[in-house]
Amino acid sequence: MNNWFKILAAAVVLMMGISLGHAADTVPAADPQMWAQLKDGATGYTTSTSEFHNQPINTYDLRVLELRSVLLAPGLMAALFGMILVFALFIMVNGISKLHHGFSGKLVYRWSKLDVSIHWLGAIPCLLLIITGLILLAGRFFFQPYVGEGVWAAMVYGAKQVHDVMAIPFMIGWALMTLMWAKNQLPKMYDVKWFMVMGGYINFGPFKNQHPDAGFANAGEKMWFWTFALFGLVISASGMLLLFPNLFEPSRTLSLIALILHGISAIIICAFSVVHIFMATVMSEGGMECMVSGYCDENWATQHHNLWFDEIKENGTLKYKE
Ligand code: HEM
Repeated sequence: MNNWFKILAAAVVLMMGISLGHAADTVPAADPQMWAQLKDGATGYTTSTSEFHNQPINTYDLRVLELRSVLLAPGLMAALFGMILVFALFIMVNGISKLHHGFSGKLVYRWSKLDVSIHWLGAIPCLLLIITGLILLAGRFFFQPYVGEGVWAAMVYGAKQVHDVMAIPFMIGWALMTLMWAKNQLPKMYDVKWFMVMGGYINFGPFKNQHPDAGFANAGEKMWFWTFALFGLVISASGMLLLFPNLFEPSRTLSLIALILHGISAIIICAFSVVHIFMATVMSEGGMECMVSGYCDENWATQHHNLWFDEIKENGTLKYKE
């Protein structure tokens, strides 16, 4: 009898909870005046003593919301769609960078299996984070108007779950790439010349047929590497503050700063990623092989990384694929 009473009581409490939940959902529609007060930052009573706990809606600094809509959302859209458009047009006008002597068929060892694995450990989550982050930040501009409410709600929910989970492998990939590859990415004097002739990738005017010196990494790759290292750190640190507020207990000001830094870093990483992917897959003939097998064609090595090729030939570490 006693057990039945407990079950009945639990059911009543559950149903009250559900109906209260519904009541809370319908407050804005039922009482517009109260909703307006809440949006103005009205406070109530609570036994909690933490800062802002008696204020149901955050009105701390609405300029941040405005900044998200006016600058960050269009910025991220431009970094993805705009950069794809610009680079596609550039390749249509300029053409790609061909191997002048074609493929030699001799494959030179360049990246270890571990290097290739950590590249994809960071890269695949990074691409998923860019897509889901774009949906969360700017999807309401370019997607929501064209789909039903249910589809949109499911999409935002899915994007949030994927974004939260992918953050972890991305950070592991970022940390490993940054630590393991930094020694090959240090700037050298000949990098200035590489930039002056745009790496030899421009197919007309005085830039045509230029082959500037490059070591293991060329100046463009070094710029991408250090951008990725720096903004990967900012995006990871700010993301952790936003993902685990109970753990780090950031102040409201720090949370808002984290939100803005997260968006700015996303824009920069996204724009560079588009360029990087175009360079690897389309622009540089033979380049993609490096991150598939870890080997590159000998003619690709001499054309794009001449100093590195000379060095490994001299010090005896040059290794061909059998
Ligand atoms: C489909 C997407 C991608 C492709 C096809 C790709 C391809 C490549 C290739 C071929 C290389 C080697 C270049 C060389 O040996 O000189 C490379 C290097 C690198 N990748 Fe990616 N990548 C992709 C996405 C990404 C993303 C999203 C990130 C960021 C997490 C990333 C970070 C890096 C870094 C830091 C390097 C070393 C610096 C460099 O050599 O450029 N990659 N990638």
